[in-house]
Amino acid sequence: MSDRTTARRKLLVVANRAPVTYEGGTARRGGGGLVTALSGLIAHHDVTWVASAMSDGDRAVAAEHDGSFEETTRDGATYRLRLVVHDSAAYDRFYNVVANPALWFLQHYLWDLAPELGPEFLAAWDEGYVPVNEAFAAATLEELDREPEAAVLFHDYHLYLAPRLLREARPDVVSSHFIHIPWPEPDYWDALPAELRVAIHEGLLANDIVGFHTERWRDAFLACADRFVPERRGRVTRVVAHPIGVDADEFERLRDDPEVLEREAALIARRPEQLIVRVDRIDPSKNIVRGFEAFGLLLSEHPELHGRVGMMALLAPSRQDIPEYAEYAAAVERAAAEVNERFGRDGWTPVELDVADDFPRSLAGYKQFDVLYVNPVFDGLNLVAKEAFLLNERDGVLVLSENAGAHEELGEWALTVDPFDVSGQAGALYEALVLPADERRRRAEAIRAHVRAHDIREWISAQLSDLDAVRSGE
Ligand code: F6P
Repeated sequence: MSDRTTARRKLLVVANRAPVTYEGGTARRGGGGLVTALSGLIAHHDVTWVASAMSDGDRAVAAEHDGSFEETTRDGATYRLRLVVHDSAAYDRFYNVVANPALWFLQHYLWDLAPELGPEFLAAWDEGYVPVNEAFAAATLEELDREPEAAVLFHDYHLYLAPRLLREARPDVVSSHFIHIPWPEPDYWDALPAELRVAIHEGLLANDIVGFHTERWRDAFLACADRFVPERRGRVTRVVAHPIGVDADEFERLRDDPEVLEREAALIARRPEQLIVRVDRIDPSKNIVRGFEAFGLLLSEHPELHGRVGMMALLAPSRQDIPEYAEYAAAVERAAAEVNERFGRDGWTPVELDVADDFPRSLAGYKQFDVLYVNPVFDGLNLVAKEAFLLNERDGVLVLSENAGAHEELGEWALTVDPFDVSGQAGALYEALVLPADERRRRAEAIRAHVRAHDIREWISAQLSDLDAVRSGE
C-alpha cells in the first residue's frame, strides 16, 4: 500500500444499513457483508457513516442527537454515526417494494419478465424510493457542512438517486458508488419503465466513480450507460472493477473464539463421514431449493453414499416482511423435508436445516466442510466462498456457480456449476466428494493463498487510489 492510500482521511460512508443497530439503548453489530467489509475503513480513517434508522431503538437514539454522534466499534475504533429517520410508510415502500424485491430481483435476473408495474409500484417509487433517497442526500449534505473536505462513498442499490441530488447541490464534491450486487445486461433493465431506468443510471453517473466486484458487471453497466444515458454532458465517470476481499487476520483470530469452538464441538458430534456445507441468507438468489434437489438426485444415483454423506444448510432469515421471501423460506423447508423423507433413516438425516442468525455457527461450518456448496442464481461476489477457506481444516472442495462474482477469481480452483442445471450440480457434488486428496489440497491451498494475497486492505486501498486519481485529475 502506498503512503497516499494509508494516510488518514475524511470519509462519508452512505449506506442503508448502519454498522450497529440499537436495542433498548444498547448497540448490536449490524448484519451483512458490507458492515464487515467497511470496518477496516473505520479503523484507519475519520469516517462518518450515514444510514437509515431501522429499528425502534435506532429511532430513539437518533432522536437524542441533532445530526451525527460519536460511536465506538467493538475493537475500540471511533467513528461518527448519522441515523436518518424516515417516515415509516415511505421506508416500507422503499425497502419492501422497490429496493427489495424489485431492484434486488431485477439485478439478480429473478424478476418476472412480465412484472406488473401498476399504480402501486409507481407510488412506491414516488412516495418511497424517491423521498428516502432525498432524505439521504439531505443528511449527507449536512454532514458535508461539518466535514467539507470529506469524500462521499455511496453503497448499493438502495441509493441510486442520492448521488445526483448531492451533485446538484455540491458540484465539486468527490463521490463514488460501489454496487455489491450484479449489474444485468441492458435488455433486462427494459423491465423497468424508461423514466425509472434513466433516473437510476443518471443517478449513478453523477458520481466520479462507480465500482463493481467483477469485470462482468462493470461491462454490463457500461453498455447500460451507453444505452440509457447517451448524452453525458461532459461529465466523466470512472467505472471500475475491484473484487472485495476479507480481513484474513480477523478470520484467523476467530478460529479459536470460544463460541466458535462450542458450535464446532456440537457440529463434530453430529457430522457424518463427509459433509457438504452451505452458508446463506434465505434469499431466492441463493438457489437453495435447487441445491437440495441436486443433493436428492445425488443420493438417488449413489446409494453407496447413504448414511455417509450429509448436507448442512446454515441459513440466516432475511427480509421476512416481503411475501416472496416468506414463500421462499417455506419452499426451502419443503425441499429439505422431501429429501429427508425419501432417503433419511434412523441415525442419518441427509439434510440438516439450521435457520438462525448465528455467525459463530457459520464459522464452525467453515472449519468442518468437505465440500462448500455455493450455487447462487446470480451473486455480486459471494464472500462465503472466500471466508470459508481461511478457516477450513479438511482441504474442502469448492463447488461454485459460474454466476457468482467470486467465480472470476476462484473459478480455476473450483468445480464450476450452472446454477439452473440440477443434474450438473449433482454430478459436481459427486466429483467433489471423490476428488483425490492431493488434488483437494492443491485447490484449497490455492484458494487460501489467493484470499490472503487479495484481502480487504487491497480493496480499500483501490477505492482510495481511485478517489486520489479523481482529485488529482489523473
Ligand atoms: O450487497 C448486498 C447487501 O447489501 C449486503 O451488504 C448484505 O449482506 C445484504 O445485502 C443485506 O441486506 P439487508 O440490508 O437487506 O439485510
